[in-house]
Amino acid sequence: MQEMVAVILAAGKGTRMKSSLPKVLHGVGGKPMLRHVLDASRNAGASRTIVVVGFGGEQVAAAMGAGAEYVTQAEQLGTGHALLQTKETLRGFTGTVLLLCGDTPLLRVATLQSLCKAHRQSAAAATVLTAVLPDPVGYGRILRNIDGGVCGIVEQKDATPVQLNIDEINTGIYCFEAGPLFGALDGLSCNNAQKEYYLTDVLSILAQSGQKVGAVQVTDFQETLGINSRVQLAEAETILRRRKLVELMESGVTVMDPASTFVDTGVAIGRDTILYPFTWIEGDTVIGEACQIGPNTRISDSVLGDSVTLHFSYAHECKIGDGVTVGPYAHLRPDTELLSGVKVGNFVEIKNSQVGHGSKVPHLSYIGDTDMGSGVNIGCGCITVNYDGKKKHRTAIADNAFIGCNSNLVAPVSVGEGAYIAAGSTITKEVPPRSLGVGRARQQNIAGWVDNKK
Ligand code: UD1
Ligand code: CA
Repeated sequence: MQEMVAVILAAGKGTRMKSSLPKVLHGVGGKPMLRHVLDASRNAGASRTIVVVGFGGEQVAAAMGAGAEYVTQAEQLGTGHALLQTKETLRGFTGTVLLLCGDTPLLRVATLQSLCKAHRQSAAAATVLTAVLPDPVGYGRILRNIDGGVCGIVEQKDATPVQLNIDEINTGIYCFEAGPLFGALDGLSCNNAQKEYYLTDVLSILAQSGQKVGAVQVTDFQETLGINSRVQLAEAETILRRRKLVELMESGVTVMDPASTFVDTGVAIGRDTILYPFTWIEGDTVIGEACQIGPNTRISDSVLGDSVTLHFSYAHECKIGDGVTVGPYAHLRPDTELLSGVKVGNFVEIKNSQVGHGSKVPHLSYIGDTDMGSGVNIGCGCITVNYDGKKKHRTAIADNAFIGCNSNLVAPVSVGEGAYIAAGSTITKEVPPRSLGVGRARQQNIAGWVDNKK
């Protein structure tokens, strides 16, 4: 098959966003809108992706990283001029150029694939993705000749009253053969209402020189919508979110209330998992089968096994094993790993710690920088004292240890296998295996004290 490269136009300023962030970096569905387009171009078969940047170009390149190449359009002189900036980068390339815009995060890979397939099969020099709209105002209109072939595109501002009645519009997405494309781009002028170099003129130039120009109509126009404002950004968010939830439900996940459930596009969830209302699942999260998530739960960039229960809680950058129960009101912070069967209960915070199989931290505790074995029981209100004001220190709690309520473990410190800590202790020295550590003042009773006080 012909090699294909994608070019994404993203030099526009995005004035209507009223933002200091370049428009294409605004997040939707859990990632920058340009990332959606980049991923779609890759998945549609592009071997390279070149992004034409202008306003905030360095910021765009820094955010997107090495997955794409960048060329700069210093002055925004039109879409044709933007594409012409890739001429040097694509010198010698003779395959297909898939042209996209950076602000269309709703595009589906299948749509791009059918455009590319039609382009290849018809051996056209250019194929444009079109849509038929009840209200085509603002878009370029597709001009067809008597036999139905595409002969050009006319912009709204340049159209005659008769042309304005055409309801088939240009989505701004095309396939081009590189040779004819760059030939035609060299011939562009800016002799039009906007004094811009229109990419759309390439189609009439090609058609007039006898080359084949094709068109494919998109079935769902929504996919090609460009985001120009924060209102449209929110609309796109709703569409992407709904799409993701439908995909999850179709694959066997119960979503009790789609209206209050937010799942980023990159999340994977196993079958028979139930998402209760008011739940956010973000970033690169993977959740296993038969879990119960929510209500009122936020999970970011975490990996959960099967049969996990997590309710009224927040977990980020964590690993949670099979059969773990968390919450209500727990906060699992980065680099926490809970092995299978762990129970984390109400008002517990855990950070940068490993908790072994079946261990329990049921109430009101802070566990930080801790290596905890399996079968450990942490009594209510225990604290690992991990910070001396300058440095963090680790606590080690070996298998089957029993930490009495309201104890402080002052790190660095270790509690041996099977050891007990008396309730209310402040432990500052190692407790050997199978010993009792007591670190509290002895109780004293003063007989008759109350009566003597009078
Ligand atoms: C363009 C099409 C129009 C089509 C519409 C679909 C032209 C002349 N017109 O119009 O037929 O119906 O898209 O949305 O192509 N850009 C640059 N550099 C520039 C100008 C634009 O990179 O100098 C980028 C923009 O960032 C944007 C894309 O090109 O991503 C489209 O530009 P825009 O100004 O929105 O084009 P329209 O006037 O909407
Ligand atoms: Ca536009």
